[in-house]
Amino acid sequence: MTSPSPRPGIMDITPYAGGESKLTGFDRVIKLASNEGALGPSPKAVAAYQAEAVGMHRYPDGSAADLRLTLAARFGLNADRIVCGAGSDELLQLLVRGYAGPGDEVLHSQYGFLIYPIDAKASGATPVAADEVNLTTSVDRLLAAVTERTKIVFVANPNNPTGTYLSVAEMKRLRNGLPDHVLLVIDAAYAEFVDRNDYSAGVDMVEAGDNVVMTRTFSKIYAMGGLRLGWAYCPPAVADVLNRIRGPFNVASAALAAGQAAIEDVDFADLVFRHNSYWREWFVRELGLLGLESVPSVTNFVLVRFPKTAGQNAAAADLHLRGKGIIVRPMRSYGLPDYLRITIGRDDEMQAVVAAFQEFRGA
Ligand SMILES: Cc1ncc(COP(=O)(O)O)c(C=O)c1O
Repeated sequence: MTSPSPRPGIMDITPYAGGESKLTGFDRVIKLASNEGALGPSPKAVAAYQAEAVGMHRYPDGSAADLRLTLAARFGLNADRIVCGAGSDELLQLLVRGYAGPGDEVLHSQYGFLIYPIDAKASGATPVAADEVNLTTSVDRLLAAVTERTKIVFVANPNNPTGTYLSVAEMKRLRNGLPDHVLLVIDAAYAEFVDRNDYSAGVDMVEAGDNVVMTRTFSKIYAMGGLRLGWAYCPPAVADVLNRIRGPFNVASAALAAGQAAIEDVDFADLVFRHNSYWREWFVRELGLLGLESVPSVTNFVLVRFPKTAGQNAAAADLHLRGKGIIVRPMRSYGLPDYLRITIGRDDEMQAVVAAFQEFRGA
């Protein structure tokens, strides 16, 4: 008897494993494993979400018109070029489905977000990784890895899990060095946390031509990861492709309403930004005092390096934190076994992590 077999590539996928959220023996844990919003969502977004509940028998507006207009007004964009999705994950997947298939290559950087090779394989395309330099995307190595089969280049800017970023000049150099037929996808999930004046999320690059897309999410600074909402800013032809292949009602009505309220609550986003910048700097300084090196981060997480010494390595540190009810993200699946990725949390959470590390380091 033969059984149904999936398309080539599917069984090569290692399923994405999200951060853990439970620890046996702890009723409450400190979860700093998934780059979620430290302060939770805007109370206005929560109110908008709740107000939608009684209307859940109605299908949502499949065109997400109001949210697209809100985003356009807030960020000075053309609403027709915006496509909303159930998380930016959905949009990344749709971009691969729309533009790459068997025989095509999807290029990403060595420590790029793990979803890119998964999406490539799911569409039957071949993922290709270009080495990084100093845990930072290398434009030269990406360009050197381009072949006539390359259809998409994914760059997370800033990148997860490294926390590093590329300047506007580097991103433009990348685009200028790519053949015109290659789609450059700038995944700017952490854009709102960046406080550098040589950074841009990529709107200008999208508008400058027809082969750059920028994706954004409500899961990070807006702290709505559980609701699944993201958006893409696209050249008109790419928006057209996404609108043809996405589900007709891919974003829930409660997510649309909460997203609109979140974007309008500028004060809350500012508060989260300031909280993040303050505690990121504090955390990196405290780690430094304990002799722990961290990768310079412009995001809401920090990649921390541990010595290889038994008892002092990343695995031992992870075990020690877990013993205190603190969950962070081990980096073995990214090929970075000496590192832990730690999300910036609330004040008390950051203090608890540093106290746990002080004990671990014998300080
Ligand atoms: C770089 C990057 N892109 C995209 C995503 C997916 O975000 P969403 O929750 O919008 O699907 C994440 C989530 O961690 C991310 O780190």
